Amino acid sequence: MNYFFGVTRAPQAILFGEGQRRALGSVVSRIGSRVLICTDQRFSASETMQEIRNDLAAKDLIVRVFDGTQAELPSDGIYGCVTTHRDFAPDVVVGIGGGSCLDMAKLVALLLSHAGSLDCYYGELKVPGPTLPVIAMPTTSGTGSEVTPVAVLADSSRDLKVGISSPYLIPHTAICDPELTLTCPPSLTAVSGADALTHAIEAFTAVRNEPNVDLGQNRVFVGKNLLSDQHALAAIRAIFRYLPRAVENGEDREARSMMMFASLAAGLAFGSAGTAAAHAIQYPVGAITHTAHGLGVATLLPYVMRFNAEVCEADFVEIARAIDVPVDNSAHATHLVIRRTQELLANIGIPRTLATLGVPADRLDWIVEQSMLVARLINNSPRRLTLADIRSLVEAAYSGRDTFTFE
Ligand SMILES: NC(=O)c1ccc[n+]([C@@H]2O[C@H](COP(=O)([O-])OP(=O)(O)OC[C@H]3O[C@@H](n4cnc5c(N)ncnc54)[C@H](O)[C@@H]3O)[C@@H](O)[C@H]2O)c1
Repeated sequence: MNYFFGVTRAPQAILFGEGQRRALGSVVSRIGSRVLICTDQRFSASETMQEIRNDLAAKDLIVRVFDGTQAELPSDGIYGCVTTHRDFAPDVVVGIGGGSCLDMAKLVALLLSHAGSLDCYYGELKVPGPTLPVIAMPTTSGTGSEVTPVAVLADSSRDLKVGISSPYLIPHTAICDPELTLTCPPSLTAVSGADALTHAIEAFTAVRNEPNVDLGQNRVFVGKNLLSDQHALAAIRAIFRYLPRAVENGEDREARSMMMFASLAAGLAFGSAGTAAAHAIQYPVGAITHTAHGLGVATLLPYVMRFNAEVCEADFVEIARAIDVPVDNSAHATHLVIRRTQELLANIGIPRTLATLGVPADRLDWIVEQSMLVARLINNSPRRLTLADIRSLVEAAYSGRDTFTFE
């Protein structure tokens, strides 16, 4: 296996730091003149939004605001935005908010650029060409959507979360201003931070594929690689150190900045390496429980880590070194890393089981079947996942049964 292979996919520019939101007007005016802003009612009513509007108006930009984005992004709302604003003919779409608003901007840009409905693009590499440019400005530190080739929506007709993955969905510019996260309450900080941790760990432990010229061209998610590893480890290191601080004290500016850095880095990591079982299983779990994406993936994460432990010891040793866990032997370090992950998640209030998350016992079979259908994520698992494996993983996560044994 050749380990010296890497892929990074990223926006043309990433502006990071407190106050960088004030660059939005300059960034937009270089690429267009008619701006559609996709956000939600919370942000649209804020003083910051008024400042942004003033800035854009001062640059003679023509602005429309859609502020009807709903959390977890039901598809009806996306079509509603497109129908209302198609006549406006924007040449730039700006997403401001959590992952739902950023994904809204990506999908609105897609539907304004290409014919067909959203289901034409479900899965990987179905988007036929470039979309309107998107500028993404996150207000949570979690999804990394500001840099990823992914948008996730809730298909209202099937009651299922689905993903669209294509390099054409990567925003043109990401503006990451940690001050925008100062208003996140502790529960949102926890859930979005846990989402970023799951991205980073699933990317760092993704399957490693034998590199060839086609790998980076024919797939969005190429598996673990040299470049994604750097971003994933940086994210993991920062999250273990700063997530508890950001949850504990939302005004801790250092923690807010480092969590926004971590979610950005985790987005860069999984934008090429991909995610795996925790994300595949969350899709049906989210559909049944209507719980936040981050809550579901983080509940599943320790069980998935345990399942992967026997093939990922070398990765867990690297994580151990990054988070200052002693490494005397690799099996013990693996055990400690999983335990530290469980403790971190428990301390910030992530449920320990799918039962606590609200999954009814009689829906486990359906969750197993539906998870298996998310082939691009199942195939990205470092340990091959059979139907029986997913069943035992889901059952363990439902009951909280600790299947990892260490002597
Ligand atoms: N595209 C990707 O790469 C990607 C990756 C992971 C998750 N996702 C998707 O992102 C969505 C989740 O995004 P999210 O976790 O950022 O939450 P969100 O966008 O769904 O927002 C959740 C709630 O938090 C509020 N909120 C957002 N920012 C706030 C702030 N600064 N202060 C106070 N409240 C704030 C929102 O108004 C909303 O009510 C899901 O649909 C998920 O599937 C996308």
